Amino acid sequence: MPAYFDPAQPDFIANPYPTFKKLHQDTPIFWHDGMWFVSSHHDLTTLLRDRRLGRQITHIVDPAAVGIPPRHPANAAFDMLSDNSMFDKEPPEHTRIKILVHKVFTPRRVEQLRDKIAVICNHLIDDMDSEFDLLEEYAVPLPVMVIAELLGIPEADRGKLRPWSAAIVRMYELNPSEDTAQKAVQAASEFTEYLRTLSRQRRVNQQDDLISGLAAVEDGGQTLSEDELIATCILLLNAGHEATVNALGNGMLALLKHSEQYIMLRKNLDLVPGAMEEMLRYDSPLQMFRRWVLEDFAYNGVQFKLGQEIAFLFGAANHDPAVFDRPDAFDITRNPNPHITFSVGIHYCLGAPLARLELQIALHTLLQRLPNLEIVEAPEFHPAFVIRGLKSFRLRGSG
Ligand code: HEM
Repeated sequence: MPAYFDPAQPDFIANPYPTFKKLHQDTPIFWHDGMWFVSSHHDLTTLLRDRRLGRQITHIVDPAAVGIPPRHPANAAFDMLSDNSMFDKEPPEHTRIKILVHKVFTPRRVEQLRDKIAVICNHLIDDMDSEFDLLEEYAVPLPVMVIAELLGIPEADRGKLRPWSAAIVRMYELNPSEDTAQKAVQAASEFTEYLRTLSRQRRVNQQDDLISGLAAVEDGGQTLSEDELIATCILLLNAGHEATVNALGNGMLALLKHSEQYIMLRKNLDLVPGAMEEMLRYDSPLQMFRRWVLEDFAYNGVQFKLGQEIAFLFGAANHDPAVFDRPDAFDITRNPNPHITFSVGIHYCLGAPLARLELQIALHTLLQRLPNLEIVEAPEFHPAFVIRGLKSFRLRGSG
């Protein structure tokens, strides 16, 4: 294990990329703190497609044998979400749920949101003063409003979504505290009850929204149970929210720190799609995902054993010099740009088309309306590694 690797260190959290660079040179696969870490682009893209790894292990191994603590009845609301969400499942259950959700969450439905997203972005900018917090006033409200619209959450209830989502996703950090767990369970319980009532109403009174669609969807006699429907809606909000917020925050920080790239982009907004891909690569909002080893096997000189965990370092793979020329340069014209920010394999992000649409419109609208943006004060990152994002980002902007 390399002595310099410590994901809890504030310096690492502030900027993990120098450490990733050393890992690429020294040891792309290593054992640290009870699990394997993998950093190279080739190893991530190979192993994330390997069916000998999976998100779920308790279907083949006693949880206690792999260090999973016994379930506590007090956490039932949180556990219900994991038990019924595609995110935590493997085939055949994963395939069944993902196919059903895909039938409703279609490219057409995403495309229908295009005008609505532009309207939301423009309204948010209309409400800004010349000095504003890009996160609180733009990046945070946009994805919640879009997902609320997509799901069909009534306007009066939309304010509850962000606090629920924020409390639940804190559980995905390494070693969450007892307090974090309690708040996550409370949020999961309230959110579940809310959606149970709403989905029952939509079953009776169908509307043109995702909740109604998920309630009615059928494929070869298969349907979603009520718990699967609830877990899917919560997953869409959680997975779709924090990552989009931080992709825009981290991406705008990178853009504004590279003034020649920023000037090139605002002169030619046709470069927005490429700029957005580079933002997603350069400082990925989700830095790590894990898998269980489901059977013993050897890989590149390493012996993986049943029940071990592998942590995949997405930010490291996106800065792998074997794949990316000048990986630490921010280059909005980078082509090709085979980043894996949306993962690969069966758990590939279901919301990638929506995330890309939102980010492109958000970036385009911001640069069109406020082409003169300046950083007011240097922003700080949240003290967390897995979900990488800024605490706030104060900017000054004018037309
Ligand atoms: C920039 C924004 C986003 C990023 C970077 C992102 C990234 C990811 C990644 C890396 C995974 C797979 C994790 C793994 O392999 O273990 C994933 C899964 C997922 N994402 Fe996203 N995501 C984003 C936005 C969204 C949006 C907008 C939605 C939906 C509204 C969404 C819904 C999902 C779902 C449902 C899954 C689970 C797929 C499965 O397990 O098969 N994501 N996302």
